Amino acid sequence: MATAVLGMQWGDEGKGKITHLLARDAAIVVRFNGGPNAGHTVIDRGVKFGTHQVPAGAFYPGTVSVLASGMVIDIRVLREEYDAISAHLGSRPEIIIAENAHLILPYHRLLEELEGSGKAIGTTRRGIGPAYRDRAARVGIRAGDLLAPDRLQARLEQRIDLLKRAWPGVPGVSALDPEKMATELIDVAAPFLPSIGDAAGAIRAALSRGEEVLFEGAQGTLLDVDFGTYPYVTSSSTTFAGLPGAIGVPNPRIERRIGVAKAYTTRVGAGPFPAEIGGELGEKLQKMGGEFGVTTGRPRRCGWLDLVGLRHAVALNDPTELAITKLDVLSGLDEIKVCRAYRIDGEETIRFPLSVEDLSRCTPVYTTLTGWGEELRSVRSPDGLPRAARDYLEFISDELGVPIGIVSVGPEPDATISLL
Ligand code: IMP
Repeated sequence: MATAVLGMQWGDEGKGKITHLLARDAAIVVRFNGGPNAGHTVIDRGVKFGTHQVPAGAFYPGTVSVLASGMVIDIRVLREEYDAISAHLGSRPEIIIAENAHLILPYHRLLEELEGSGKAIGTTRRGIGPAYRDRAARVGIRAGDLLAPDRLQARLEQRIDLLKRAWPGVPGVSALDPEKMATELIDVAAPFLPSIGDAAGAIRAALSRGEEVLFEGAQGTLLDVDFGTYPYVTSSSTTFAGLPGAIGVPNPRIERRIGVAKAYTTRVGAGPFPAEIGGELGEKLQKMGGEFGVTTGRPRRCGWLDLVGLRHAVALNDPTELAITKLDVLSGLDEIKVCRAYRIDGEETIRFPLSVEDLSRCTPVYTTLTGWGEELRSVRSPDGLPRAARDYLEFISDELGVPIGIVSVGPEPDATISLL
């Protein structure tokens, strides 16, 4: 059976924990979008990892991890992560890297700095936007190029020549040396060279054999390049709607589609956020939830659960169930607000606007629910949850018309309640 795990908000929903749990039973785990902008927190046998590119399958010997063509891959970051996981396991995880996945190269990070998108959009500064742009502009370097050193160097020469003409006299650009870069890349990528190949074929074969295939989403729906809060988005498709194109399998027939949503909302980087909580309460939630970015360490902006955004995410991901994470963080609040609609120009709407200008004019319309005082960290069954917490979950599920299958009450793998 195939399963997909997707973020329903602005990323950081806690997908890492859910994929790590589900990867245990998977034959193959596939990351299909983004690159080292993602930071998935995984606790594996007591050791905490922040993974950025390696799919969660890597923690289980015998499970194959695939980096599909929709990703942009920074080989250096991959190598570091891979070596750390290998040392932790005492063996080397099996991976497949799509030959047609694009590489993030040192000049992509440099371009992000020169162009100022790091500041303007609040990106993770990992070179994501410039790498996807090179892909679309047909000047990118792909993983498969690492297998042909002469071709790699020729492509780097062409690309770097363009850069030098676009940024004359800029020291970081003038210093770029294609030959040196090619040699370094091949050196760092050495352990992966036998793993670069036909990822789409491997996924298709596993699906047709009926194996357990797990698709691991990165970022969240509201960061989708087309359907998110453009331009305050990432540069890839983050939704189930974009998944088939990102893996090269037109109809992967994914039976279980898990939409992961935090019990409240967070966002890193710039852009409108109607249900944002300012002041002391926002800071309290940030502290209680440990809301600091895994990739950049930046504090995450915090807000109440936003059903308008979530309805939009339900439409784009068609989830068969929801996983609600970090429910434990809400313990101790007398009341909990949920944004059930927006008000714009004096009118109430439940439609999520695609224009950020419109979104920034929206104010939240809240419903207030009763909170609970009990600690939830040790709860392991639905019956162990306080009445008010169950009511909160039921309210979310009813409003969105999607059952809740998983509730997470702590970062550890066993701090999980199964509801279906
Ligand atoms: P980029 O993906 O680095 O270009 O950043 C674009 C926007 O997406 C910024 O607001 C980032 O903070 C946000 N972003 C990218 N990846 C993640 C993620 O994994 N979690 C949360 N936010 C992310």
